[in-house]
Amino acid sequence: MKTLIEQLPKAELHIHIEGSLEPELMLKLAQRNHIKLPFNSVEEAQEAYQFNNLQSFLDIYYQGANVLCREEDFYDLTWNYLQKAKEQNICHTEIFFDPQTHTNRGVPFAAIINGISEALKAGQEQLGISSYLILCFLRDLSVESAFETLENAIKYGDKIKAIGLDSAEKNNPPSKFKAVFDQGRSEGFLTVAHAGEEASSDYIWQAINLLKVSRIDHGVRSIDDPSLVEYLAETQIPLTVCPLSNVKLKVFNSLEQHNLKVLLDQGLCITINSDDPAYFGGYLNENFMAISQALNLTESDLKKMINNSFKASFLDPKQKEKFYIQ
Ligand code: ADE
Ligand code: ZN
Repeated sequence: MKTLIEQLPKAELHIHIEGSLEPELMLKLAQRNHIKLPFNSVEEAQEAYQFNNLQSFLDIYYQGANVLCREEDFYDLTWNYLQKAKEQNICHTEIFFDPQTHTNRGVPFAAIINGISEALKAGQEQLGISSYLILCFLRDLSVESAFETLENAIKYGDKIKAIGLDSAEKNNPPSKFKAVFDQGRSEGFLTVAHAGEEASSDYIWQAINLLKVSRIDHGVRSIDDPSLVEYLAETQIPLTVCPLSNVKLKVFNSLEQHNLKVLLDQGLCITINSDDPAYFGGYLNENFMAISQALNLTESDLKKMINNSFKASFLDPKQKEKFYIQ
């Protein structure tokens, strides 16, 4: 099973680039940019990575992102992830970035997008990894701030495939961003949204009906609404599920209690992803390995979810065909 997971080409569809910031690079960038961190070593950082819920993680994640200041920092961050992706046989990746986390500290949007995009270009040329960028709005910030960010997205529209929604989910429903997403779609962006990670299945319905998403990020709370499960099976709107993240953030108490196999068996288009691998103890292959063992997944389950990773991607149908396995 391990060899199968390691060797098969895969796509990753739910990875926050800021969540791939390993403590080593964080410490290096803190020094380079004269930023004070609450830890002085990799070990101290890892000890601090204990979370009770999504918010307790986000507090540490945004603090870590403070070391990202200049274009080269965003390049280094993205390049490090791509090298890891290469080791794991990820041949296509759709990467989230959170511009407001940086523009709110005075980092120019251009530095963020150019640093990430240059690394993605090098990833394609030197590592053969194709990629798309997804700009996420922070849902706990205002709608006005999201509109300002959308203006920037439109300026760099050739570098951005889709818009999404992340950060603190509870009390920040998709409906809050309907007008932003309406404009985003009219500008040609595809849409996705984190929904049903911590908040209820109603947020998943809102993401589908109001934001017209192509995929739901997480979506595990769909299980609470049988009519939603039926709808997701029928429409094949994919869920980008992140098993290690879900346990670290106590969405499930253990991997054994994860509902991904139940949803897969009901015919949903389930994909496996890493979310914030530097914080949750594993990249894509570690997520596949851990969940396979915990839920006794079969070779056929694994192949199904690997094929789903391409099926659910924003690649065009001809490109997808090349990756499907038997
Ligand atoms: N930002 C980074 N990781 C996230 C997650 N798991 N949920 C919501 N926002 C996030
Ligand atoms: Zn996420």
